Amino acid sequence: MTQSLTIRRPDDWHLHLRDGAMMEAVLPETARHFGRAIVMPNLVPPVVTGADAAAYRDRIMAALPADMRFEPLMTLYMTEDTDPADVRAAAQSGLIRAVKLYPAGATTNSASGVTDFDKITAVLDTMAEIGLPMCVHGEVTTPDVDIFDREAVFIDTVLDPLRRRHPHLRVVMEHITTQDGVDYVRDGGDTIGGTITTHHLIINRNHILVGGIRPHYYCLPVAKRETHRLALVDAATSGEASFFLGTDSAPHTDALKEQACGCAGVFSATNTMSCLAEVFEAAGALDRLEAFASRNGPAFYGLPVSDETLTLTKGDPVDYPAKIEGAADLVTVFDPGFPLHWSVS
Ligand code: NCD
Ligand code: ZN
Repeated sequence: MTQSLTIRRPDDWHLHLRDGAMMEAVLPETARHFGRAIVMPNLVPPVVTGADAAAYRDRIMAALPADMRFEPLMTLYMTEDTDPADVRAAAQSGLIRAVKLYPAGATTNSASGVTDFDKITAVLDTMAEIGLPMCVHGEVTTPDVDIFDREAVFIDTVLDPLRRRHPHLRVVMEHITTQDGVDYVRDGGDTIGGTITTHHLIINRNHILVGGIRPHYYCLPVAKRETHRLALVDAATSGEASFFLGTDSAPHTDALKEQACGCAGVFSATNTMSCLAEVFEAAGALDRLEAFASRNGPAFYGLPVSDETLTLTKGDPVDYPAKIEGAADLVTVFDPGFPLHWSVS
């Protein structure tokens, strides 16, 4: 018996496309399935102004294969010097769809992030006024906080006080990894949404550490214990409007991942939809995959749902490449650790 599922074409609400040769390698992996993606601004140097975002968008569109339809949704990287007038103009022209807040030092290429949150008050006021969402990497970076506690501590000491100071600001808590993150988003009303990655629905911290260290499962925020993964699956498969897909697909070459100090990031663009179908099927929630991947995100961002569709068909295990050719080196594709039976047709 063939089983198939047709949903509105999905979008990815948190994606790293990089630049140059790496972007050319990974862009088709996303554009094959996804109609739009919120494109992270953590290039070196970061995308900080409207002019930077316009130039980056043009480079993405120039790298897009002619037979693919894809719309990059641009973001700015918040710094302590971000100019509210530039943010307003870039948002009002439709160029940018969010501003990304990285606490300084939280993750890959976040050295220009924010240390003194008082310095961004005027930008946040502007964003609240015009309804422009702030995407936030929700981890504290203080060295005395254990890496597995950084998300929960961020909620209590940074995010919640900030949202009380700016109650109308729309916030996306990105790549939530804990029950605490799920609860905070779920109870936070309609000004907060949470994205969940493919890999955090599938791996817990044992997958990274048991039987040998697996650098391709290392990302930030780091995967937590199994109870947290189960909370994420529950949230993603609930159909609740607050939760939507943000793969955080973040390519690094194998050489950079497989070394004494390996980079953080999981590359999952290639097989995300097949992985998600397995997760949702196992949870008895295939009928809610469309809400998570295609409907809740556009609703939060005030954008229309795609008028295209994507069909998944269940059959023999799907062949997908273990690695793709990246910029002068290979990039390993996320290995869910089980066969994938749903293919995108
Ligand atoms: C991201 C990257 O490589 O740019 N890495 C990651 O582990 N997720 C940065 C980020 O989103 O934190
Ligand atoms: Zn990311």
